[in-house]
Amino acid sequence: MAGKLEGRRVLVTGAASGMGRAIADLFAAEGAALALLDLNSDGVHYAAAAHGAVGFVCDVADRAAVTATVASAGAALGGIDGVVNAAGILDIKPFGELAPESWDRMIAINLTGPFNVVHAALPFLTAAAHATIVNIASISALIPMSGTTGYSASKAGLAMFTKCLGFDLGPKIRANSICPGVIKTEMTRYLWENAEHSDRAAARVALRRLGSAEDVARAALFFSCDDSGFTTGTELPVDGGFSWR
Ligand SMILES: NC(=O)c1ccc[n+]([C@@H]2O[C@H](COP(=O)([O-])OP(=O)(O)OC[C@H]3O[C@@H](n4cnc5c(N)ncnc54)[C@H](O)[C@@H]3O)[C@@H](O)[C@H]2O)c1
Repeated sequence: MAGKLEGRRVLVTGAASGMGRAIADLFAAEGAALALLDLNSDGVHYAAAAHGAVGFVCDVADRAAVTATVASAGAALGGIDGVVNAAGILDIKPFGELAPESWDRMIAINLTGPFNVVHAALPFLTAAAHATIVNIASISALIPMSGTTGYSASKAGLAMFTKCLGFDLGPKIRANSICPGVIKTEMTRYLWENAEHSDRAAARVALRRLGSAEDVARAALFFSCDDSGFTTGTELPVDGGFSWR
């Protein structure tokens, strides 16, 4: 049976680890040709080698580097008809302890990073017969939580950026965001490595478990293939029921 992404060329950021890596794995299995981008050189080249993909070391906050990298990715793949922005960072601190530099970096990577990537990819996305953008936001875009002023602001901005992209780029290009809850990746290792903290976090959600990177990858697949052909400008919680209460 043909994969759901057969013939599609997709750029994934943050592909060295966690959700970005799981998305690369699933998209490759579904037939996509991939360009993978990450700051982590070993990780991104390892992922690229696993899938016959092209790998690029790039900081999504560096606009000039992103412009050059996306151009190279488009040339290598012969076009781009899907983008997934998964690169991101998290610094949880009470507002009084949050360094201005940390705020700047979260906004630069989590919000301006996807802008840089989509802006650079736009000529390719526009040239594609139909194209998709998937941005990994967070439930922090939907509900306030203590210690997350910078992170939540960056992710809420990303979710609204995505909605507006849906308007501006439709009908040929669809844009959706995913709002993961607590997902077991490197980013949240500090939490799930401690059994007590992990159990407490799981007890907060209706499905009584933490999420996996694969849970998020399946949602990214939905938004990147024709199954979601009439869906744009949404943000989908993949959170086991965290944000709905
Ligand atoms: N893990 C969670 O519970 C959770 C929940 C909600 C949202 N998110 C979001 O999901 C996305 C994926 O996170 P994850 O949990 O897989 O974390 P992760 O740390 O496993 O992966 C993040 C990847 O992004 C890369 N990266 C970081 N800064 C970068 C930069 N400037 N340029 C290029 N690459 C960069 C890292 O090298 C890493 O490979 C992030 O945007 C994160 O904010 C995570």
